[in-house]
Amino acid sequence: MYDRYGPPEVLHIEEVERPVPKEDEILVKIRAAAVTRADCATREANRRSGLAVSLISRSISGIRRPKQRILGSELAGEVEAAGVAVTEFAVGDQVFGTSGFRFGAHAEFICMRESARVASKPAGMSFEEAAAVCDGGLNALWCLRQGDLRKRQRILINGASGAIGTAGVQLAKHFEADVTAVCSTKNIELVKSLGADKVIDYTREDFTKNGQTYDVIFDAVGKHSFMRCRGSLERGGRYLATDGLRNLILALWTSRFGDKKVVFSIPPRYSKNDVLLLKDLIEAQKYRAVVDRSYPFADVVEATRYVETEQKTGNVVLTMFDSAPQS
Ligand SMILES: NC(=O)c1ccc[n+]([C@@H]2O[C@H](COP(=O)([O-])OP(=O)(O)OC[C@H]3O[C@@H](n4cnc5c(N)ncnc54)[C@H](OP(=O)(O)O)[C@@H]3O)[C@@H](O)[C@H]2O)c1
Repeated sequence: MYDRYGPPEVLHIEEVERPVPKEDEILVKIRAAAVTRADCATREANRRSGLAVSLISRSISGIRRPKQRILGSELAGEVEAAGVAVTEFAVGDQVFGTSGFRFGAHAEFICMRESARVASKPAGMSFEEAAAVCDGGLNALWCLRQGDLRKRQRILINGASGAIGTAGVQLAKHFEADVTAVCSTKNIELVKSLGADKVIDYTREDFTKNGQTYDVIFDAVGKHSFMRCRGSLERGGRYLATDGLRNLILALWTSRFGDKKVVFSIPPRYSKNDVLLLKDLIEAQKYRAVVDRSYPFADVVEATRYVETEQKTGNVVLTMFDSAPQS
C-alpha cells in the first residue's frame, strides 16, 4: 500500500479486508504480479516527467494522495471464489491478466469481472512467467497496431531488452515484419533468441548514423527522439513512442504536416481478446515472457528500486504464497 506519492520507501505491507466478488466477478488468489514502470510512475505521480504530466497524473490517481492505495496490474493466480453469474471460470482455475489502471494486484487477492482482461493461464507456464506477459505484451501490441505495422515492413526496435521491447520483437515477428533490435552487448543473445533478424549493439554503433532506413522505428524505452530518428525513417515512415509529452504534441503536428509521422496514442487500450491472443501465441511457442528477477512480496521496495534503475531485462515479478511452477 502507499498513502502518499513519493519514492519506493512509501510502499509498505498492510493487512486489509479480503475483497468479496460480485455476481459477475472472480476472486483471484494472486501468486505473482509484475512490478512495472507504470507502477513506479504512478507511485511518484509522474514527477520525473515534469509538472504538467504530474498534474495530469494526480488528476487521474488522486490530487493530494492516491485514491487506489494498492499498485500492480499484471497478475497470475488461482480462482478462489466465483460469483453466481460467472460461467467462464471455476474455483481452482489458474488465470493470468491485467487490472490495467484499476491497479490492486500487489496484493494477495483481487476481484475481477470475468469479462475483464483475464484468461486461463497457458498450460505449463509458471505463475511468475504468466504475471510477466501482459505489461510488455499488451503495450507493445497497442503500439504496433497503432503504427499499422505490416508484413515484410522493416521495423527497428530501440530498447529491445525491456518489458515492451522484448514483447515488441516477438510480436513484430508475429506480424511477419523484418526486425532490427537495438540493445546493449549483454542482451544480444537474448534478443536474437526472441526472433530478431538483425541486432545493433548501441554501445558500438549509433543506428541513426549508419545510413539504414526503416518503415517503422519503435522507441520502446523513450531514449531516442523523433528528431534524432527521422533521418532513419523511409518516406511515410512512422516513429512509435512509448512516453513523453512532446511526443503527444508531435503526434498531433505530424498527423497534419510532413510525411513522417509520430504515433503516440494514450491511454493504451486493450481487451480480453488481446490477452487471449498472447495466450495463443504462448501456447504455440511463438511468445515468451522474459523474467529478469523475482522477489518475495515482502521485498516490494527492493523490487521497485530495481525497476527504477531502468536497467531491467524484460520484467520484474513479486511472488505471493507459493508460486512454484504448475502444470
Ligand atoms: N511498462 C509500462 O508499464 C509502461 C507503460 C507505458 C509506457 N511505458 C514507458 O515505456 C518505456 C519502456 O518501459 P519498459 O518497462 O519496457 O522499460 P524497461 O523494461 O525498464 O527498459 C529497460 C531496458 O532498456 C534498455 N536500455 C536502457 N537504456 C537504453 C538505451 N539508451 N538504448 C537502448 N536500450 C536501452 C536496458 O538495457 P541495457 O541496460 O542493456 O541498455 C533495459 O533492458 C518507458 O519509457 C516507460 O516509461 C511503460
